[in-house]
Amino acid sequence: MKPVLLAFHYNGPAGLSQLEERFEVVKLFHSKDPEGDIQAHKDNVVAINCTVGQAITPKIMESLPNLEIIATFSVGFDHIDLEKAKERDVRVTNTPSVLASETADTGMSLLLATAKRVVEGDMYVRVGKWLNGELPLGTTLANKTIGIVGLGDIGSKVAKRCEAFEMNVVYYGPREKSQYSYKYYDDLIAMASDCDYLMLTCPGGEATAGLVDGHVLDALGSNGILINIARGSVVDESELIKALQEGRISGAGLDVFANEPHVPAELISMDNVVLLPHIGSATKETRTAMGQLVIDNILAHFDGKDLLTKVV
Ligand code: DGY
Repeated sequence: MKPVLLAFHYNGPAGLSQLEERFEVVKLFHSKDPEGDIQAHKDNVVAINCTVGQAITPKIMESLPNLEIIATFSVGFDHIDLEKAKERDVRVTNTPSVLASETADTGMSLLLATAKRVVEGDMYVRVGKWLNGELPLGTTLANKTIGIVGLGDIGSKVAKRCEAFEMNVVYYGPREKSQYSYKYYDDLIAMASDCDYLMLTCPGGEATAGLVDGHVLDALGSNGILINIARGSVVDESELIKALQEGRISGAGLDVFANEPHVPAELISMDNVVLLPHIGSATKETRTAMGQLVIDNILAHFDGKDLLTKVV
């Protein structure tokens, strides 16, 4: 009998057949009764494949006595209880490097779309508003300052792209990174008040929950634009809505939300907000590479080799 892999996430037909060579794959992504399926296989489950938004709770881990590895199809791992994984000696892997450029590109798409009113402009043409006058003016990127919150894999790629757009790059994070010459701030409000644009690229989870609150938005100011490709939890969403409604910031480009896939109606109704359905890494090429990295991590573990991208 093959050991069981619980697939919360569908890793495509090619990924699935690779996994099926080694495991009985329980396809929770198709299941009408995931709880029942987990219970039915619980003693044989050795691996989990999941992704963003699929919470791997202490309760799930407790119910799987032989679980060895959780491989998430995402760079973020805020949906996995790492403390419980460590306590149970369960390995956790993610897919960091292969999606960094893609996610940075999504950040740049949102930055350009929001600043230059691309989505609003498209609609302006389609509904015939151009016939009655010009679209209101956008905002320049060159020579403006962008503050990056979290200069990790993705943040540093955003920084590089912003340099090509002739922007002045500064950053905030838990510590200064000596390999970069960008100006570092250890105070987010101080950085926001020096910035025209704020781009969030930090991890989600407890450490960053509500980091961008009303004070940070006020510091960014009435001409400022917020871009979030990190996690919805990093921003106090109701404060963001108020700041946009009251003109305390100028606009926002958002790929992530507090309660995905639900997006507040107030945000949907605003012209100065560009909304994406959490597609940071969503291209065929990058998703294929992520899927392969998930499989390579799982196989490395069961072949007794080093994990490629280990979280714990
Ligand atoms: C991830 O993989 O965690 C990100 O959400 C990509 O957008």
